[in-house]
Amino acid sequence: MKKIVLLGLLLQFNSLSFASIEPDWSDSVEITPGTNRENLYELSEEEFKEVTQEGLKHALVYPVEVSGLFIPYEPMVNFFKEKDNSLMKMILAKIGEKTTGIESIEGLYQWLGLNQYNDEDAEGIYRIPYPEGHKPDYYMGASIVHTKWGKGLTFSCATCHSANLFGTSVIGLTNKVVKANRLFEMAKKFMPFVPPKSFQKITGATDEEVEMLKRTKKNLGAVGVVRPQVLGLDTSLPQVALSLARRAKDPYASKKPINQIFPRSNILSHEVADSKPAVWWNLKYKTRWLSDGSIVAGNPIYTNFLWNELGRGTDLKELEGWMKDNQKAVRELTAAAFSTKAPLWTDFFPTSSINIPSAKRGEKIFENRCQKCHGQYTKAWSLDYSDELPLVDRIKTINVKYHKKTPVKDVGTDPGRYLGTKAFASALNELQISKMMKTVVVPQKGYVPPPLVGIWSRYPYLHNNAIPSLCDLMTNPAKRTKTFYQIPAESKTEDFDSECVGFPVGNKVPKKRKIKEAFFNTAKKGLRNTGHFRRIFTDKQGRELLTKENKKDLIMFLKTL
Ligand code: HEC
Ligand code: HEC
Repeated sequence: MKKIVLLGLLLQFNSLSFASIEPDWSDSVEITPGTNRENLYELSEEEFKEVTQEGLKHALVYPVEVSGLFIPYEPMVNFFKEKDNSLMKMILAKIGEKTTGIESIEGLYQWLGLNQYNDEDAEGIYRIPYPEGHKPDYYMGASIVHTKWGKGLTFSCATCHSANLFGTSVIGLTNKVVKANRLFEMAKKFMPFVPPKSFQKITGATDEEVEMLKRTKKNLGAVGVVRPQVLGLDTSLPQVALSLARRAKDPYASKKPINQIFPRSNILSHEVADSKPAVWWNLKYKTRWLSDGSIVAGNPIYTNFLWNELGRGTDLKELEGWMKDNQKAVRELTAAAFSTKAPLWTDFFPTSSINIPSAKRGEKIFENRCQKCHGQYTKAWSLDYSDELPLVDRIKTINVKYHKKTPVKDVGTDPGRYLGTKAFASALNELQISKMMKTVVVPQKGYVPPPLVGIWSRYPYLHNNAIPSLCDLMTNPAKRTKTFYQIPAESKTEDFDSECVGFPVGNKVPKKRKIKEAFFNTAKKGLRNTGHFRRIFTDKQGRELLTKENKKDLIMFLKTL
């Protein structure tokens, strides 16, 4: 009896600590089309539930205690409470600004574009775990980390990889309004002028918290930032390249003052390589990572930790130690990211808004013109017994057949982002930590045709957000929308065009959404809306193949993915 219990405990311990097999992260891995890696570590149903919940918590609250940038949390709370704003005034005067516009911690979260945790009664994929068991008073992505210097505020993966979709937060969806890179920019401008002594006096910071502040100020010197061209785009890639250019060229990219005074030149200080944060639910179908498929080997979650930390000026020896000691946490997060699922159209709109005969006609067009790149989607309506299913189940996808190996295609879309990879691939590959993680970056020509699961919620389209809606995607590039606004998904009726699936454009844009930082101009370098048309929507001679009705049907089908 005792033996059996012990064995049971051992087994449980083994699988929870993932002593089972590590997935194949090499560039020779293949995925049998029709299967996927949703349950990456092949855990039992119960363990899978437990592990992915823990993993989501790491996605929500940043687990890296050795991270480079922490804002002393309690002092910051006091700073905002402090009526005497002489310090703030002095700093703002020094950097030549009148105001930051941020007057509370909540104000900071909102400015940054963070979203709130869903209520307790949320179900399915919308049931987002509460890190401490109760609904937090902070926002998703905000992370109050217990460091050796006290509580430090930083921001997690969920900052960019979770989003508000018409009042419900969704994990793994691209945050359309995040200003993470702007926060770094602001910190670089602001922090050098924060005098530790006055800071301590005004905020009541402990000596340890002052140490935390000094450390953050120092590490900011190893961070290179550029501002994204427009709201909704992210410059993490240039940030990695420019930060590496501010560190020594040795296996641990050590931080030396000389490299910060004279950073090596890098084309990403002026060439645009912006892209949007990718959705997480596609990971399970893919064998290579990023919009250009340039990460060809290594667990992408480890790689993303490395990128995040390079962008935060972290010591890579300390990071390497952290990774070795925290394999369980990283694997939990990996399991969680691979298990995420897309929101369904019918979770937000009535089932009656899907016209099945039209969607079925669209399906045929998709099979002929799109499937070879984007994969095959089997619908429940094709089952023999589909008539017996409720309508809402009939329109579900029951199987996705994506490629054995993720392809990269050049369909004439803006090259800026894929060209950008060249600017730092070798510097990244040479790091000791990349070798340890077996990460390999290989520059590509083109982009991955992504799986289209949940595509209705992923507007605006393309890696660089240059196409506001599916209607626009199906339009000749010469006639596509030239300028539009990056609009948050708050109101289903005003902020969303449910026929075209995407942003309202032209005179349908709500007045309050017409703000400068959200203005998207496709004439700008890196923001071009070219490509993805010839031989996709035309024949070899360039003649358009689809009628207005065909396009409507195709959009109807895409809504159901
Ligand atoms: C500042 C915003 C930001 C943060 C924070 C962030 N990411 Fe990302 N992430 C991005 C962007 C942007 C891309 C797409 C870059 C590209 O492909 O051009 C991306 C891509 C990815 C991908 C590749 C997806 C694919 O389909 O290939 C993974 C995996 C990922 N991130 C995981 C993470 C993890 C894990 C964290 C936390 C450790 C994290 N990200 C934090 C912005 C962010
Ligand atoms: C030759 C391969 C190829 C074919 C055929 C193709 N696509 Fe694509 N598609 C791509 C590539 C590559 C991208 C990514 C381009 C980028 O991000 O710059 C893409 C992107 C997209 C996107 C945007 C994805 C996102 O996350 O923003 C949509 C939507 C899309 N395609 C729909 C279609 C439809 C519908 C068809 C059929 C009418 C089709 N594609 C046919 C290669 C293809």
